[in-house]
Amino acid sequence: MKGVILAGGLGTRLYPLTYATNKHLLPVYNKPMVYYPIQTLVNAGITEILVVVSGPHSGHFINVLKNGQDFGLKHFEYAYQEKANGGIADALALAEDFADREPITVILGDNTTDADIGPAVRKFKSGAMVFLKEVKDPKRFGIAEFDLQDQSKISRIIEKPKQPPSNLAVTGLYIYDNQVFEFIKQCDPDYIGRGELEITQVNNFYVEKGRLSWAKLEGHWLDAGTFDTLLAANLYWAKKNRSELTEDKESA
Ligand code: G1P
Repeated sequence: MKGVILAGGLGTRLYPLTYATNKHLLPVYNKPMVYYPIQTLVNAGITEILVVVSGPHSGHFINVLKNGQDFGLKHFEYAYQEKANGGIADALALAEDFADREPITVILGDNTTDADIGPAVRKFKSGAMVFLKEVKDPKRFGIAEFDLQDQSKISRIIEKPKQPPSNLAVTGLYIYDNQVFEFIKQCDPDYIGRGELEITQVNNFYVEKGRLSWAKLEGHWLDAGTFDTLLAANLYWAKKNRSELTEDKESA
């Protein structure tokens, strides 16, 4: 399986922090934010990664990630999204050649998690898979609505719902087969009125075809795209790092 990290966008929710660099290069405790999704893919056994970048600070990624060797990757490449605010699905469209008809695991560059997605990656055959997590602020995310007859089935995903049907958010981790590129071409930039190609519309195309599966993300998860969640991510990873260091010292 190959991996794709979507690290574009203007990061306007984090102005003025993102005036000087890209959101995904801001610190989360002792590492740039984008290190976390890379590590999630590497831990799942993925060694071929594409990073999609955009915006005025795209060149900064080369200084930080270089040729990916620090992560022990076999293959590492970049793609440049012309329209920085084109949306997640627009960025993912650039991965078509890289995917080369194989399934791909996709992570948003501001999603940090310590969950192990390796088993799901290894089991994946076809269709699409999303990972859900309970959140306190469901109006901020894509939220899963479940089939009334069969509660194990997602009936649709609602992006930024005014009246959330559940508190289960679609996290920024996805696995797709090659049909994803066909669906992206059918996306409408006015889907929720923010002028972006929405990954939620892509996921709903899979729902309509009965090809979307889901799992709960087991572990800590945060998207670090707002001041509060960026702070929370910093605090979480600082605490986790320090307790791992203490455990190491105690067992030495
Ligand atoms: C995006 C997706 C949303 C998902 C979220 C996870 O939101 O559109 O469905 O729940 O990432 O981080 P955005 O960051 O574009 O507002």
